[in-house]
Amino acid sequence: MNLVFATNNRHKLTEVNQILGDSINLTTLGECGITEDIPETSPTIEGNALQKARYVWERTGRNCFADDTGLEVEALNGAPGVRSARYATDGHDFDANVTLLLHNLEGVENRAAQFRTVVALIIEGEEYLFEGVVRGRIIDERRGEGGFGYDPVFVPEGEELTFAEMSAEAKNAISHRGRAIARLAEWFAANNVK
Ligand code: IMP
Repeated sequence: MNLVFATNNRHKLTEVNQILGDSINLTTLGECGITEDIPETSPTIEGNALQKARYVWERTGRNCFADDTGLEVEALNGAPGVRSARYATDGHDFDANVTLLLHNLEGVENRAAQFRTVVALIIEGEEYLFEGVVRGRIIDERRGEGGFGYDPVFVPEGEELTFAEMSAEAKNAISHRGRAIARLAEWFAANNVK
């Protein structure tokens, strides 16, 4: 099966390729001629994932999927959520985002948070959604050099290390995106897609 993965992020592509295996052949946006940034203007994570997948389907007519992720912090009523990439500024300034998050949680006892990824798949025009969640907590200062985004301040449930202190393999095995893609792989297996 050939599928367009609506990303140009090499790191994500490698991660997703590992989970889906050789029978699914992934093409990136650049490889199918989409070089512009796809709009992500929905107020929800689901909406953004669908918006990206529909954009590819409408322009290429090719089976495809897209993912969107947010960090949802309980004490902040689910923020930064769908705005995770643009929490502090309009750009993708990871450091400024973490600084703002820690500032907004100063003196707050409830540190519960979750990463949530939604994958939107379009096969022959039919739409399917898959979700992956990892619960955890936000610590009060950065730890670790690995990963990206909010990884240095997120400790998954049942773990001591932040995502930024774990190996990529250890993180992927339990991460929101890893779990959402595993659901996608299960769907492919159940529907004999190969
Ligand atoms: P995207 O939808 O995958 O582009 O993710 C949106 C934003 O969520 C990113 O810019 C990061 O700030 C954050 N994010 C997504 N995945 C992760 C992760 O695995 N670790 C830490 N932050 C993440």
